[in-house]
Amino acid sequence: MLERSESCGSPGGSHDGPAGELTTCGQSSSTMADQVKELVSKCLQARDMAYCPYSRFPVGAAILTADGAIITGCNVENASFGLTVCAERTAVQRAVVEGHRRFTAIAVTCDTKDQFVGPCGACRQVLMEFGPDWIVYLTKPDGSYSETSLRELLPLAFSPAHLAKN
Ligand code: THU
Repeated sequence: MLERSESCGSPGGSHDGPAGELTTCGQSSSTMADQVKELVSKCLQARDMAYCPYSRFPVGAAILTADGAIITGCNVENASFGLTVCAERTAVQRAVVEGHRRFTAIAVTCDTKDQFVGPCGACRQVLMEFGPDWIVYLTKPDGSYSETSLRELLPLAFSPAHLAKN
């Protein structure tokens, strides 16, 4: 994992060119840095909307779509505990309803200050439904983040490709 670095779709990679230089994504590094900053800030805002009266463990997520939109989600709990929906899945479902299916990155945060917390296994699988190329920013409440990737978080994953008949 890399902390506070920028990447261009190569999970775990970093970009150290001068600000404004074109990267292989065709975006300037300053634009990408701004996007990550916004993504991180939006997941923190989403966490403040969490409905978590049972666990009192608020989680926020913000997804960056391939066309540059940001869609947020928070955990939504239920008195029938098993019906709780995680922040990451709320965000994915919102994104799909709004017509997005191609995603670049997700930032996730909770209230834990002393370590970076990753998405649960179920959410990793739900992200994988939309491809393995997600960059994942694990974000602390102070806005610091650690960059990882879905490939790193869910190795040897089961994916839609495995359903193709032989
Ligand atoms: N939670 C998430 O929103 N995302 C995760 O990846 C892990 C857990 C929520 C579910 C529940 O509302 C609370 O955190 C405690 O498990």
